[in-house]
Amino acid sequence: MLLLLLAFLMGLAFVQFYRSEKSLSIPWTWAPDDRLFSQRPLPPPLTDTFLDNGTYVLPLKTRGRDVVDQNGKRFRLSSVNWYGASDELFVPGGLDIQHRDVIAQTIRALGFNSVRMPYADEMVMLNPEVMPHLVSANPDLVGKRALDVFQASVEALTKAGIAVIVNNHITSATWCCGADPCDAGWRNDYLPKAMCRVRQSEEEWIEHWEIVMERFLANPLVIGADLRNEVRGMWGTMPWGKWATAAEKAGNRLLKMNKDWLIIVGGTESGNYLTGARKRPVVLDVEDRLVYSAHVYSWSGWGSLEGRYSKRNYPSFVKSMRNNWAYLVEQDIAPVWVGEFGAPDKPGQGDVNYWTNLLRYLKSIDADFGYWALNPRKPKDNEVESYSLVKDDWITPVLDYRMRDMTELIRQRRTSSECL
Ligand SMILES: *[C@@H]1O[C@H](CO)[C@@H](O)[C@H](O)[C@H]1NC(C)=O
Repeated sequence: MLLLLLAFLMGLAFVQFYRSEKSLSIPWTWAPDDRLFSQRPLPPPLTDTFLDNGTYVLPLKTRGRDVVDQNGKRFRLSSVNWYGASDELFVPGGLDIQHRDVIAQTIRALGFNSVRMPYADEMVMLNPEVMPHLVSANPDLVGKRALDVFQASVEALTKAGIAVIVNNHITSATWCCGADPCDAGWRNDYLPKAMCRVRQSEEEWIEHWEIVMERFLANPLVIGADLRNEVRGMWGTMPWGKWATAAEKAGNRLLKMNKDWLIIVGGTESGNYLTGARKRPVVLDVEDRLVYSAHVYSWSGWGSLEGRYSKRNYPSFVKSMRNNWAYLVEQDIAPVWVGEFGAPDKPGQGDVNYWTNLLRYLKSIDADFGYWALNPRKPKDNEVESYSLVKDDWITPVLDYRMRDMTELIRQRRTSSECL
């Protein structure tokens, strides 16, 4: 009898769970406001949010929760990710469609003042000659090697007044992040030799960083290094303390090359958690250079009782943000750049719930952010990228709820009296 009752209750719970999961993927119906936004052209970008405006005195540094210039004027990172160099083909996306200068202008027209440029360690190790068809809209890059193409793409951005943060994304060049433990952190030499196609030690990881950043020593708009994407430990192999120590080592080596670079340190467990930084902060040899980074996606939060962010109400969502990373911002301890977040062009209810909560919160704290991603296609198999902000021509913007909210975020102004 008791067993029967138990089975019944479990069945009930299952149906409930199934219903709530299903409701997440019900397509969203647009509010009239969203439709209006998508019919109007984007407002022209605010020139004084860009580093080339002439009002910023470089180099940048940090002060409390903000990235500021030498006069203490805030430079808010309104960034977008431009991927490809960390994937199988070793080439930033779109160079077969448009000249890199055109892509830079596209990014500027969208209002982003900075770009996160991921690379893979394998790209540095092999540095292969890129396949000509991948750079066909950039004839001067045909026959060049991957690092040269990466450098040329970065320089196209900085020439257009866009700041660049270079990001070590993954060890073997592929879409990040599968379950492969070889790519779970900055080193994998503790794993059995036969296991990883691309092996690297901590020292090699740092050496790859030096090889990449050496090319940008004389480029003041290359403002920083995002040391490693989404460190996540299998079986607790990458706890915060271990990562913080490795990040200090790499950060200090880069600061020896150029003391002006910002050093960006992401959270553990796929970039979600900076909780450890409260007791064990990252401390670099140069003061005021440390920026933390957190990633927030709709499926994050899955390990917790309250569930994934796609399901959360706003108070529960904010509580997680504060606990995971935003205490650093709200308590004016250090800047946190939300270097990855994103949603698809045809979202379900769950996506919209996550997005609405996140953007509401980012606006409320006037956050530094980096949207994932610009690209309309994934490099492998040329698969359509539903998170994209441009159409296949790499020029026409996709104007919907995402650009509407980010445009509002970019254009909001925090005066010092409104400081937390
Ligand atoms: C800097 O921004 C201000 C305000 O938007 C604008 O009036 C000025 O022309 C800009 N200067 C440059 C060099 O872009």
